[in-house]
Formats: sequence, structure tokens, C-alpha cells
Amino acid sequence: MGIARSTLLWASTNPTLRRMAPHVWFVKRALRRFMPGETLEDGLEAAATFRGLGIPTLFTHLGENVADEREAIEATDEYLRAIDRVEELGLDTEMSVKLTHLGLELDLDLAAENYLRLVRRAAERDDTVWIDMESSEYVTPTLDVYSRTLKASPNAGLCLQAYLHRTRADLEELLPLRPSIRMVKGAYREPPEAAMQERDQIDEAFLGLSVRLLKGVQDGKVRRFAPGSHDLRLLGRVATASRDLGVSLKDWETQMLYGIRHQDQLELAGRGYPVRTLISYGPAWYPWYVRRLAEKPGENIAYVLRNVFAKAP
Ligand code: FDA
Repeated sequence: MGIARSTLLWASTNPTLRRMAPHVWFVKRALRRFMPGETLEDGLEAAATFRGLGIPTLFTHLGENVADEREAIEATDEYLRAIDRVEELGLDTEMSVKLTHLGLELDLDLAAENYLRLVRRAAERDDTVWIDMESSEYVTPTLDVYSRTLKASPNAGLCLQAYLHRTRADLEELLPLRPSIRMVKGAYREPPEAAMQERDQIDEAFLGLSVRLLKGVQDGKVRRFAPGSHDLRLLGRVATASRDLGVSLKDWETQMLYGIRHQDQLELAGRGYPVRTLISYGPAWYPWYVRRLAEKPGENIAYVLRNVFAKAP
């Protein structure tokens, strides 16, 4: 892992920076690249624009590691409000949540209950509520909540991280439950005992897991498969594997983030391939934003610096 990337990943969890950065004007301005704004209405406006372009969306109301039960319930209620507004506006927008935002660190049952409330509400629209995967310490409780919920409703989806050594075995355990899986490379700073550190190795793991998931789509063991990546070369390899297996490219969906590879998202949608854009909003953006900077440090730091030299508001 490069120095810039590991420094940014360190900064993403630093409490002092977390407190100060949101008050720095050029950081806030540079943030616009990755999110349309801090409110639900900002997210809805962006989702309506994407709908006009033929691209369905996902919402994440940013927040993680809440301090008490009241905050976890508020976060859940905020998502319920989002689903109501999505329905009112006729948008094709699913939710993607972090379980620590719903109270996982406080009490696993509380997070499971909050997540099930969301899944039950989304199931009325036959939508899926996706769980983001957080750092490795949360993987076991996250899988616990996910498998419990999946037994109660098929409308639950989970993100798995290709860089973790354990993911292959975790996936095999989930397959009998007919999961919906978003496969990503992994965004956190993890030790070598937990995660692969080399890009090529992670890419190969991503491809191997994707092939397993495509086979699952083929034999009905996987309800939905969604590679979450902007790596077009790797996505191309997944598409080739899909063709080789005889799985239509329309039987799975690529998920990408708002503000990244926008032209490619339009092109995929224009060619009729399912693509969905994840839009994040909310005031608690700091750790999430710094993880995004770490994914492409050179380009993103240059972008933040350009905002330093732009005129102050
Ligand atoms: P890679 O990092 O190789 O990027 C490929 C190319 O895409 C880069 O060369 C660059 O051009 C562009 N790019 C990618 N990221 C960029 C960025 N931030 N800024 C500018 N350009 C960028 N992780 C996790 O641990 N848990 C989760 O729940 C999720 N959820 C999730 C959902 C969705 C829809 C996506 C797309 C990603 C996630 N991730 C995630 C993040 C994921 O683990 C990974 O860190 C990023 O997607 C970056 O890896 P890529 O596969 O895009 O490849």
C-alpha cells in the first residue's frame, strides 16, 4: 500500500481531523465531487437527474458508529423517510446502510431489528436494502445480522470485500440462503493477517469470487450479483467470464459511486447494461470522504488543492 493511501486511511479514523475538517471551506467545496449535498432532498434531486439518464440509484445517509440507541433509531427513521420520499417521487432508488449506523457496536439485536424494519418496508416495493461492509472487526457480527435477516426476507443484500482472506469461506456459507451480493475490492486499512495488500492479488480474488457468484446466478443460488467497482479492466474480465458461462450481462448489475466514471456509467446504461449509482448524502461525511480520497490519492489530492487556490466563498 502506498504512503499517500495509508496516510489518508489513517486520517479517516483520526478524531481530531474528523472534528476539524468539516469546517474547512475548501474541503467542503471539494466534497461536491463525491456527493450532491448534505440533505435527503439533495440526494433526491440527484436521483431524479440520474433517472432522467436511465440510471437507477442507491442512497447512503452517511454516518457510522453511533453513540447511543436514540441515534441508531433516528438513523433508521431517516432511511424510512427516504424510502417514503423515493416512493412519492416514483424513483428507482434502493438503500445501502452501515450497520454501525444502525447500532451494531452498541447491541447486535438493536442493529438487526433496525435493519429488518428497513428490509420489511423496502420489500413492499420489492426493493433490496444493501448492507455496506465496514472494517474487518465488524464482519462476523455483520454476517450474523445479514443471515438472520435473509431468513426472514429475501430483500436483504450484502457487500463482501475481495481483499479479506475470509471472504471465500463467508460466501460459501451464505450461498444456501440465496443472498444478494455486491462484490467490492475493500476500502479500509487492514493488516496483512486479515487482508491481501497487493493490487493484483486483490483483483484476482475479486474475479474468482465474481465467477463463483455468476455460477450462483446461473443455478439460482444467488438472487442478485452486483460488482461494485470503477475498474473497467476488471469489470471487462467479469463480463468475459459471464459470457463464457452463458450468463447474460443483463442478469447482473454494475454499481458505481456518484462522481466517479460518470461517462462510463452513461455508456453502460446507454448500451442497455444494468448500472446503478450510489449517492451518499448527510452531514457526517468525513471518514467516508477521506476513504474516497485514498482510493485515488494523486488525482484526488490535486483536486482538493485546486479548490484551495479557487476563490474562498
Ligand atoms: P480501483 O481503485 O482500481 O479504481 C479503478 C479506477 O476507477 C481508478 O483508476 C480511478 O480512475 C477510478 N476511481 C476509483 N475510485 C476512485 C476515487 N475514489 N476517486 C477518483 N477515481 C476513482 N468498500 C467497502 O469496503 N465496503 C463497502 O460497503 C463498499 N461499498 C461500495 C459500493 C460501491 C457501489 C462501490 C463502487 C464501491 C464500494 N466500496 C466499498 C469501495 C471499494 O471497496 C473500493 O475501495 C473502490 O470501489 C475503489 O476500487 P475500484 O474497484 O473502483 O478499483
